[in-house]
Amino acid sequence: MAAGKGTRMKSTLPKVLHRLGGRALLGHVVDCAAQLSARRAVIVTGHGAIEVEAVCARFQGFPSTFGAKLDIRFARQEPQLGTGHAMQQAVPLLADDGVTLVLSGDVPLTKAATLQALIDECDGQRLALLTLKMAEPTGYGRIVRSGLDASAQVRAIVEHKDATDAQRQITEIYSGIMAVPTVLLRRWLARLDNQNAQREYYLTDIVKFAAADGVAVVAHQITDAAQVAGVNSPVQLAELERVYQSRCAVALMEQGVRLADPSRFDMRGQLTCGQDVEIDVNCVFEGTVSLGSRVRIGANCVIANCTIAAHAVIHPFTHIDGEKLGVTVGEGALVGPFARLRPGVQLGAEVHIGNFVEVKNSTLGKGAKANHLAYLGDATVGERVNFGAGSITANYDGANKHRTVIGDDVQIGSNCVLVAPITIGAGGTVGGGSTLGKSTEPGGLHVARAKQVSLPNWKRAVKKAS
Ligand code: UD1
Ligand code: CA
Repeated sequence: MAAGKGTRMKSTLPKVLHRLGGRALLGHVVDCAAQLSARRAVIVTGHGAIEVEAVCARFQGFPSTFGAKLDIRFARQEPQLGTGHAMQQAVPLLADDGVTLVLSGDVPLTKAATLQALIDECDGQRLALLTLKMAEPTGYGRIVRSGLDASAQVRAIVEHKDATDAQRQITEIYSGIMAVPTVLLRRWLARLDNQNAQREYYLTDIVKFAAADGVAVVAHQITDAAQVAGVNSPVQLAELERVYQSRCAVALMEQGVRLADPSRFDMRGQLTCGQDVEIDVNCVFEGTVSLGSRVRIGANCVIANCTIAAHAVIHPFTHIDGEKLGVTVGEGALVGPFARLRPGVQLGAEVHIGNFVEVKNSTLGKGAKANHLAYLGDATVGERVNFGAGSITANYDGANKHRTVIGDDVQIGSNCVLVAPITIGAGGTVGGGSTLGKSTEPGGLHVARAKQVSLPNWKRAVKKAS
């Protein structure tokens, strides 16, 4: 269910599209359904339906975590007349021979194992409710049983606004998540009315129908409140973000990754790590990132969509984003501090990229170095090349991009401009301060700058006395 408005977010973005761990809230819920190998996911949309549906359509092909086989359908609910009404829109798209798992698009942290246990309790024949004891249950639907002890039969769910004072004392609440045989759900939904305090069609009313029809109702009670916590406000979103980040950090540390401080670590995608990886404080990982064995990431790095081979060191304040083309950093390479690697960069083994160096869509051979204040764009750089401080490839003529090819063992001095398209032959040396517009043969010294003039008797101007 994802049709609700989310007024308290005070945002124009539909609530279920707000991001947690870099991904839409609804994405987490759909991911969970995919992990359960659901046959079909029906998403009930209403508020911001067009935007929500457009984002969900992209989940179909989301790498690895989203099962590509999950068949996603949409049911529009306009207007929104309650959770029962929402489910009435969805059931025509569900097959009678299955079990329907009801989830909320704004509850992102439910674990697949918890839902599997709920489905097992349902067992294709019972109504299984996910419940929780809460010290402060105000606002939630209460689980009403036939007696006082915990084993007493579940008779109904009573919404807070409809509950008597005695019922409001009940601390066991309905989480909003249930598993129900679809054929029974369809039958019960047809019997709903809106004769209640909110004039809504309550999905929770099906519990009393189940009890009346002699269908067993089971309450599957959990203790981890984060798994059923919904997002209604920016404060709650930030709280759940911390829970999510701490889960990710713990999972990595259990694999042996050493995080300098798990509370200063942010994962907004998927990170795979080899053995003995070390990550200093305040690093953000986005998209798909892979770190080889013994990789070290310094403090304050933002690293997205890249593969870093074993023994490479990324020094502090480095920004890497491979976007769609990706970035690869070779074995034992040193990058940063203050380096920027953009899409399409492939650094060979033992390459050094130093401070204030930007590299885009370029390949650097083994042992090549650009240690200070440089720009390499659309370049193919050979092995052992040394690219001097302040030098750049002028890859853009104002209309088109051109390639620079630098052969093996070339030495580019400081403050050079290589005007592409250009090839610097292997083993050549380019004198500092040169602007080269023509390709060079292998070897030799290539200098293109004004000759030095020295005037030994020149007098500097002196200030006039006033
Ligand atoms: C619901 C339950 C309540 C439970 C609580 C847990 C009902 C009647 N009550 O309460 O017992 O304790 O969840 O959080 O089900 N939605 C729609 N269309 C609608 C109304 C809601 O799609 O017409 C969606 C919302 O976007 C949300 C979910 O259903 O994702 C739950 O709606 P919400 O309004 O939060 O449920 P409550 O009434 O608070
Ligand atoms: Ca709610």
